[in-house]
Amino acid sequence: MMRLAVISLFPEIFQAYMGAGIMRRAAEKSLVGFEVLHLRDFAAGRHRIVDDYPYGGGPGMVIKPEPVYEAVKYAKRDGLPTLTILLSPQGKPFTQRMADELSGEKGKRRLLFICGRYEGIDERVRASLVDEEISTGDYVLTGGELPALVIIDAVVRLLPGALGDEDSLKEESFSWGILDYPHYTRPPEWNGMRVPEVLLSGNHGQIALWRRKEALRRTLRKRPELLRMAGLTPKDQELIGKIKEEDYEPGK
Ligand SMILES: C[S@@+](CC[C@H](N)C(=O)[O-])C[C@H]1O[C@@H](n2cnc3c(N)ncnc32)[C@H](O)[C@@H]1O
Repeated sequence: MMRLAVISLFPEIFQAYMGAGIMRRAAEKSLVGFEVLHLRDFAAGRHRIVDDYPYGGGPGMVIKPEPVYEAVKYAKRDGLPTLTILLSPQGKPFTQRMADELSGEKGKRRLLFICGRYEGIDERVRASLVDEEISTGDYVLTGGELPALVIIDAVVRLLPGALGDEDSLKEESFSWGILDYPHYTRPPEWNGMRVPEVLLSGNHGQIALWRRKEALRRTLRKRPELLRMAGLTPKDQELIGKIKEEDYEPGK
């Protein structure tokens, strides 16, 4: 089982997402165990205050270290090894490779996500309680809940048995280091646009070749930098040569 835990000031955010679709099915099949801890429950005093003014002045509030420390301690109460992840725009940019690595923690370490809010969390939390700091991208959100869900989703769907059809993992974007090929379903013609004939041919060799070529074409157009890292075969290089000839536009 993959053990997941989240520390958040808004635990209700997780209910809908974790209660639907693949996430729900993974929990029902006991592929994942999921616990949400409400940070406020770990704050001291009658008012359970979790934030305070920043030292040195400036705008906004900062989450106090003590409730986070207490929540982390509670999350680890069973003594199981835990990888503690702080969501932060300053963290390591999240990628499919990281999703792969984190899904490999199944049965080894619990993944514990600390979601910030306001201006963030007292720096001493990062320095003393956090193993990894992860960002989902170069933008600033109001809280770490959406990034935590993004990572959890990407990780859980990689767990064996989570998806209906495991094969879909093998061919999607980034699994080959490049983007996915285009997908079509019925009807064969819609709004004057026909599905490429090769996909209707039943010729699996030709279909596989077409898909590889179109995946390379898309990557070349949309994310050419991915091709440098993709470990392309000589056949891929040949296909890229053809694509460049086909897509050549004079003056561009
Ligand atoms: C408003 S942000 C704080 C931003 C912080 N003052 C800074 O500039 O780095 C509040 C919280 O949202 C989360 N967050 C915001 N953007 C994020 C991102 N791109 N990736 C991961 N977490 C993010 C973090 O947990 C952060 O503590």
